[in-house]
Parts: sequence; structure tokens; C-alpha cells
Amino acid sequence: MKLSLRSHLLGAADPVLLARDLGMTPDPWQIEMLHSTRKRVHVNIHRQGGKTTTTAVVALHEALYCPNSLTLIVSPGLRQSQELFRKVLAFYRQLGKPVAPETENQLSLVLENGSRVIATPASEGTIRGYSVDLLIVDEAARVPDETYASVSPMVAVTKGRVIALSTPAGRRGWFYKTSKSMRWEHFMVTGPECPRLTQAELDDERDILGDLAYRCEYLCEFVDSAGAAFDGADVDALWSAGPEQPLAPSRREPVPRLTREQEFANRQARLIMQRGPRFNTPEPACRHGVSASGRCFQCINTQGRPL
Ligand SMILES: Nc1ncnc2c1ncn2[C@@H]1O[C@H](COP(=O)(O)OP(=O)(O)O)[C@@H](O)[C@H]1O
Ligand SMILES: [Mg+2]
Repeated sequence: MKLSLRSHLLGAADPVLLARDLGMTPDPWQIEMLHSTRKRVHVNIHRQGGKTTTTAVVALHEALYCPNSLTLIVSPGLRQSQELFRKVLAFYRQLGKPVAPETENQLSLVLENGSRVIATPASEGTIRGYSVDLLIVDEAARVPDETYASVSPMVAVTKGRVIALSTPAGRRGWFYKTSKSMRWEHFMVTGPECPRLTQAELDDERDILGDLAYRCEYLCEFVDSAGAAFDGADVDALWSAGPEQPLAPSRREPVPRLTREQEFANRQARLIMQRGPRFNTPEPACRHGVSASGRCFQCINTQGRPL
């Protein structure tokens, strides 16, 4: 398909029109994300929800209409970075290459307007030294903290943007921490909210994945890993009640003898609670007081994001 001059100009002005030229009918959150101009965007959307597709449109828009820009796609492995990059390339070809290519290969696209899109795995050695206008971190919850710390300064000089997309992988790491940060714009959509998934399909997924993985992958919950002795939310509650209360019995009661397993579990709980204040930082909430990780039924159309 060759993009007409009119579509070209309209697509430049509005990435949603570019997505429509590509045959997409974007979901409401996709429209919002395509319109977003925020510097930090946190995308916690269920598996197969359209994160990669939407971000590929954002990347292509940047390359076509911001001359000399550099878009870097980073993910835990080359395969994931390539998957997003392949979508960018497929969309670029589908539009009939509206800006001519200089180089076009499996990992990079360089256009005649000076823009580049580069895909790379998140190994620190290979990605240092770029000045990036758009940094895309796919499968972000699985990108180690040290790697993110080494890539995020790349956008500081250019005053560029970061888009981090993932399903959650436990209550740890930078993707979890930024899920509570007001400095980031948040997109969160669960499987049951997706117009392309039926309840029967979701039930099948729950059977296949098991409850814990289903909650991460389709309900977008930051749940603790299966091996953790305690759920982080329970530990948060313990901390609010005072760390000693549930663990230390009253002096008048006889001290029960603990099994080795109970002692181990207690030690684990104490260790987790020592980090309590970190978990206790107030979460952003919508105007009805519902935290960003919950769902507010009064402002459902915001998908529970803070207003
Ligand atoms: N708005 C949409 N309308 C129709 N199909 C869509 C839409 N958004 C995404 N898809 C399709 O859904 C599938 C999963 O999309 P993808 O971007 O890979 O999801 P994710 O990265 O969230 O796992 C793809 O086949 C994609 O083409
Ligand atoms: Mg994806």
C-alpha cells in the first residue's frame, strides 16, 4: 500500500491515523497511548493485549516524522527485541516506505531523513554510548535493574522518552517500583477488559498457567513469586499493624516450640518486614481513593489509573 500525501500528512500529525492506515482499530487505551506525549510511560497490559503492536506504531511514527531521531528497542533477549523491531519493519513496508530507507536489515532501519531504529538485547556492553530519543524496553519486568540503570541515562541528554512495557514479574525490580511512581504515565488493562478475549479463553488460560501465573499475565497483578514464604501484601499489612505484633507472643503465654520450618518462615518474614517502609510508600490513587493497582468502578473508563 502506498501512503497518499494526505494520509502522510495526517499520519504525521496523529499516530492514531497512522495506526488506522495500517488497518488497526485501536482500543481506547491504545488511542490514549498513541496520543501520549509523556516522557515516561509504564505499560502494564495483559499478555497478547497489543503492547508490542502499539509501541511499534509509536516507534515508526518517531522514525518517519522526527528526522535524525534514534529509537532503541531493548529487551532481556535479542529474540524479544527483534519481535518488536520486525513489527516496525512490517508496518514500514505495509505503508510503502513513505520515507526511503538507507539501510534495512534484521536489527536496524536507517532512513534517508537520518532517523534510526535499532533493536538490541539488554546486555550493558552493547548498548552504552547511544543518545536516544525514544527508548523502548519490552518485557521490562525481566530487564535487570542494573541494565535499566545503564540505559535510562541515554535519554537524559536528548530529553527523550522511555516506554516500558511488560506483564508483571513479582514485587521487585524497577518495573514494579515505577508502577507506583507519579512521574510515570500508567496504562493498565487486564485480560477480562480486552474486547478480543472471551471468558472461555481466559478460563482456559487460567487452567494452563495456574493461578499465580494467570494473575501476573492476565490480571496484571504484581504478585510474589511462587517460592516466596509470604505474599508481599500480607507482609505490608503486618508492617502497618506494627512488625512485632503478629510474631512475638504475649509474655504471659507459654512460648510455643517452633518447628524448623516455622523458624525459617519467621526469619523470612522478618527479613521482608525490615524492608517494610519501602512497601509502605503511599500508592498513587484515583480521585475516589482507589490505589493505582486496584480498579475503581466509578472511573472505570480510566481503567483504574490515577486521575
Ligand atoms: N486494536 C487491535 N485490534 C485487533 N488486533 C490487535 C489490536 N491490538 C493488538 N492486536 C493483535 O493482538 C495480538 C497480540 O498483540 P501484541 O502486540 O503482540 O500483544 P502483547 O505485546 O501485549 O503480548 C497480535 O496479533 C496483534 O496484531
Ligand atoms: Mg509483546
